[in-house]
Amino acid sequence: MKLRQVTFALALAATMTATAQTNVLDVNTSKIGAPVQSTMYGLFFEDINYGADGGLYGELVKNRSFEFPQTFMGWQTAGDVTVKNDGPFKRNPHYVTLTPTAHKERHTAIVNEGYFGIGVRKGEDYRFTVWARAPKGTASLKVQLIDPASMGENQEFVSRKLDVTKAEWTKYEVKLTSTKTMNKAQLRIFIEGKNPADLEHVSLFPVNTFKNRDNGMRRDLGQALADMHPGVFRFPGGCIVEGVDLDTRYRWKNTIGPVEDRPLNENRWEYTFAHRFFPDYFQSNGLGFYEYFQLSEDIGAEPLPVLNVGMACQYQNWDNEAAHVPTTDLQPYIQDCLDLIEFANGSVDSKWGKVRAEMGHPASFNLKFIAVGNEQWGEFYFKRLEPFVKAIRAKYPNIKIVGTSGPDSEGKNFDLGWEAMRKQKADLVDEHFYRPEAWFLSHGLRYDSYDRKGPKVFAGEYACHGKGKKWNHFEASLYEAAFMTGLERNADVVHMATYAPLFAHVEGWQWRPDLIWFDNTRSFKSVSYYVQQMYAMNKGTNVLKLTMNGKPVAGQDGQNGLFASSVVDKNTNTVIVKVVNTGASPRQVSLNLNGLKGAQNARTLTLASNNMDADNSLDKPENIVPHEGTVVCQAGKKGTVINDNLPAKTFRVYFVKK
Ligand code: AHR
Repeated sequence: MKLRQVTFALALAATMTATAQTNVLDVNTSKIGAPVQSTMYGLFFEDINYGADGGLYGELVKNRSFEFPQTFMGWQTAGDVTVKNDGPFKRNPHYVTLTPTAHKERHTAIVNEGYFGIGVRKGEDYRFTVWARAPKGTASLKVQLIDPASMGENQEFVSRKLDVTKAEWTKYEVKLTSTKTMNKAQLRIFIEGKNPADLEHVSLFPVNTFKNRDNGMRRDLGQALADMHPGVFRFPGGCIVEGVDLDTRYRWKNTIGPVEDRPLNENRWEYTFAHRFFPDYFQSNGLGFYEYFQLSEDIGAEPLPVLNVGMACQYQNWDNEAAHVPTTDLQPYIQDCLDLIEFANGSVDSKWGKVRAEMGHPASFNLKFIAVGNEQWGEFYFKRLEPFVKAIRAKYPNIKIVGTSGPDSEGKNFDLGWEAMRKQKADLVDEHFYRPEAWFLSHGLRYDSYDRKGPKVFAGEYACHGKGKKWNHFEASLYEAAFMTGLERNADVVHMATYAPLFAHVEGWQWRPDLIWFDNTRSFKSVSYYVQQMYAMNKGTNVLKLTMNGKPVAGQDGQNGLFASSVVDKNTNTVIVKVVNTGASPRQVSLNLNGLKGAQNARTLTLASNNMDADNSLDKPENIVPHEGTVVCQAGKKGTVINDNLPAKTFRVYFVKK
């Protein structure tokens, strides 16, 4: 036999052995293990990939306050349109004057292109609002939704009149009901008659937002977050917390109060990658810290804000100490943290609690966690974090502090990070790992050896970046499912885990894979989303020990590519077992639920595909989704037994009533 034939024969023999062999998994259902934290599986949100402006945040108008560095970015103008900068909102002073021209056919108008167009749905209502004044007498506006590429007689398909009657700045509103569903509509505003009008903060919002909130979230995207049943919601980033320099860092105080007066910030993802370059990507801050807290409440997740630790992005500034705040000048940053806790939890009589109440939420947001620093490493970070920890502990001893081990999944900086977090007694350490297939398959035991007495783990950003190409596909999601059995088995030390990033606009992404994709009217959940959801919705209340020949099942030698974990849900009296077959052929599995009595059928939930490169898409949003099933249980000597032939490349969850 030639070498290639021998290799093939050996591989075939190994596959046949693995296929024929019964893999006996033992679950001890009598000994209830560590509690699974309610925060265990959650969401990490960052305004990357047009996740906020142009995505989750419902606003459809880009550059609504004319504050982009190029005043008319996102707008086209015709006729007599001028810009002024003494408007009614101090931090957004620019506005436009639309003046009718002396010529009948020289129309004056402004047109907004939205974010890759404006998405509207037939029959849905959209709220157009504008701050306006008409110093020379009533001015008449015509507000339209248009199809700029229309081949029909008229570009406009919705047109409403709006009279600006007052000489003082006043907010006007008109409802537009769309007669079409389209992704790339535009908003056009004509001025008619003789009198000019000043316009500021031109806004168009779906009336039908998630939970019907004003200044709310796009309904389908908000619902997708809720459907995950997340335990924790981390915001607002990510690298945008740091900014490329301190001037452009995220400042939560700029993101609260009336939206009209929230100052614009650049978004570092506009220019980070030359191959995915978006010069019109800014942060309006319309989705700000009040909205993040409100959203956390709406989706039932614990809020986890991340604040700047006095450092600009280390990737951009590497060893440059001067890029960061001198350690002697950190007080305003520390005060920001303390004020944020007061904003979230303080009584309505406190300075910041009052601001929250005035915004519409007198009750506390019940904040329990705060993260200080996003993805920092080295002495730069450790010495800056220290005074934050001291100040937070002194004023708010019950708030749990999340530190970070930096961007590496292991290695020198990672170890130093953990050592420093232990020394500073951080409650949790935020680990980040965007790693390839081999890493996910070989790190199933990652947390088994972690120190049980130190800080807890927050796997705050992770995803399998498979095939070196970093796109969403089934195989990467399957390996995430496999790896996550290790999170679950170690729920005594892993208290939170959030996949990253969360959202991506199909035309505006900078980073992939991502959990949820969308265009202007549609969205779909990736297979990775369903993996997360299968864990989050079936996390149980306590870990149950699960072994194969006495060892944890984590794709180890002799385990035939199987990964598994088990929990019990004390509320529903259900044993839940998760098994992932990462192998290329089916695996015979015998699941011994020792201590369980009886032989009922078990419910199953299965995620599988025979195309490793496939995922869901806008056109096929349910190409690969979990499927319900049942499997027969038998009464064995020590308890209930399930014999199952688990297909190749499959993630299956078994539910057995106690
Ligand atoms: O999730 C994308 C980026 O990855 C985050 O902004 C950052 O924290 C990490 O480097």
